[in-house]
Amino acid sequence: MARRKQIYEGKAKVLFEGPEPGTIVQYFKDDATAFNNKKRGVITGKGVLNNRISEHLMIKLGEIGVPTHFVRRLNMREQLVREVEIIPLEVVIRNVAAGSLSQRFGIAEGTPLPRSIVEYYYKNDALNDPMVTEEHITAFGWATTQDLDDMMSLALRINDFLLGLFLGIGIRLVDFKIEFGRLWNGDDMQIVLADEISPDSCRLWDIKSNEKLDKDRFRRDLGQVEEAYQEVARRLGILPEGGPRDLKGPATMQ
Ligand code: TMP
Repeated sequence: MARRKQIYEGKAKVLFEGPEPGTIVQYFKDDATAFNNKKRGVITGKGVLNNRISEHLMIKLGEIGVPTHFVRRLNMREQLVREVEIIPLEVVIRNVAAGSLSQRFGIAEGTPLPRSIVEYYYKNDALNDPMVTEEHITAFGWATTQDLDDMMSLALRINDFLLGLFLGIGIRLVDFKIEFGRLWNGDDMQIVLADEISPDSCRLWDIKSNEKLDKDRFRRDLGQVEEAYQEVARRLGILPEGGPRDLKGPATMQ
């Protein structure tokens, strides 16, 4: 196969030019980072699992009418997505206090929030992804008021749906981060869910034990990181065919 053109390499994914114009291949790495790249490691099999988990969640969200960039999974570590103009915001939706919200307001981790809270962070590693308000976003032109309305309503729909989906498999969706992109069709523009949804970008706690089944196991050196990602995939019913043994998979990256 001809060598593909790499468009971008991020901390957990590599993007390549897709087979047709307007498409991109997302390659999921096993690399893990935390605290804006200060902590680095490898979670064996993570890329394979996140590729599957994100595929599964994006397909389900698509089925309830949430527009996404997802087209199809190509292989163990790659999926085809539509090329979108990424809006430089990390949209965080929180149901239960944890992480930076707990730190900022001194609220114990695990405290249910009075209602779901949506926050925006400016995607900029050099600035450490600062939290921003709608005022900053519209004044600096990162998104319009209409874009923000669309993102907020999609974020809440995604949250409602994922809360139920995870509850059904004994998992509490504490919080998660999503990104949106602009999909252009001639002069028409639609805001669509982009990037990924996986245990890298969610806090997922077992309902009964409160055991963490997400990247906090890596961030906080809790051990059993691979096992936690596998457990999420297992409960979603999507462990790769060969089971955990298959997670290394063939090296498909070129
Ligand atoms: P936080 O409590 O550290 O602000 O994180 C909130 C959620 O966002 C949590 O589920 C982890 C996710 N997240 C990312 O996906 N990427 C990031 O860079 C950060 C800081 C958080």
